[in-house]
Amino acid sequence: MDIRAADLVDKLAGEHALALDDYEYLVEHLDEEVRDLLAEHARAAREPIYGHDVFVRGLIEFSSFCKNDCYYCGLRASNASCERYRLTAGQILACADRGYELGFRTFVLQSGEDPRFTDERLCAIVRALKEAHPDCAVTLSVGERTRESYARLREAGADRYLLRHETATPEHYARLHPAGMSWEHRMQCLRDLRELGYAVGAGFMVGSPFQTSADLACDLLFIQEFQPEMCGIGPFVPHHATPFANEPAGTLEQTLGLLSIIRLIKPNILLPATTALGTIADNGRELGMEAGANVVMPNLSPGDVRAKYLLYDNKICTGDEAAESLLSLKERLARAGYAVVTSRGDPRIA
Ligand code: 5AD
Repeated sequence: MDIRAADLVDKLAGEHALALDDYEYLVEHLDEEVRDLLAEHARAAREPIYGHDVFVRGLIEFSSFCKNDCYYCGLRASNASCERYRLTAGQILACADRGYELGFRTFVLQSGEDPRFTDERLCAIVRALKEAHPDCAVTLSVGERTRESYARLREAGADRYLLRHETATPEHYARLHPAGMSWEHRMQCLRDLRELGYAVGAGFMVGSPFQTSADLACDLLFIQEFQPEMCGIGPFVPHHATPFANEPAGTLEQTLGLLSIIRLIKPNILLPATTALGTIADNGRELGMEAGANVVMPNLSPGDVRAKYLLYDNKICTGDEAAESLLSLKERLARAGYAVVTSRGDPRIA
């Protein structure tokens, strides 16, 4: 095994921090042996905090309208072939009710950046959801908004917010997004969310076009410094109607290696095995857990709209990805040695 890489894994496991060039070296040396070593340490770091518990969050994708034009995403505004939908407040609450019955106690409300969901409308939905299910946590994932907007939503009862930083280097950000979007603003949003008292989730795609090992090293250093409560990472997967249609997908192996590194950076982080990971590999979820993940987010959206929330080609939305299959998901993860926990959040993390 590469000696320097092995030393770096030991150092990371002991100190939960590395220097930028050490992260870059590690990212460049993620061969099978190094990944196995990382995964072993990642599981050991997770064990005293979470045991074999896996947390489930019910995902409600409530609008596929988006004003942004990110080059990688199938929901980008200029994709005219994308069939758009928007759920009503009543439909969103019905999804949550169904989820509650199934055992979910955290709901993630996710959408494109849809201007129709004004603060007023979104706050009313959050308030109604918290009123109907006071024992549940509400996570929002609705993109960049003003600090005032984030403050109102928090006031309305939102507990957590997912906003992937996408890439920690401004140069790379500029190659993934059109000129109107700014890396500085995205980072500002994350700081605002943190200051407003949300539990914050950052994250990035693995193997996105133009991404270098140096970019990934910056992502890891950012996670180390920002210490987000959650981190969503998954492979980039091309979508046929985007400028990146012909770009190669990110790999399973690199994603798994990075999941382990992130677990070691912050042992108590909430780390999902994402839908994109489940899309590029049949057993992606279990492999994610073995690498150090501890969250899954089954889809609670109404069946008839699921296929329309197509961020990338072949996105899975049936089988164990569907919230209705919670039982079979539980069985599957149990076979891999994990126990699905539906209770709200986790008392062991602030
Ligand atoms: N492949 C993988 N992930 C994607 N996302 C958007 N498009 C793609 C794609 N083509 C991710 C982004 C975004 C999240 C909602 O989905 O990281 O933040």
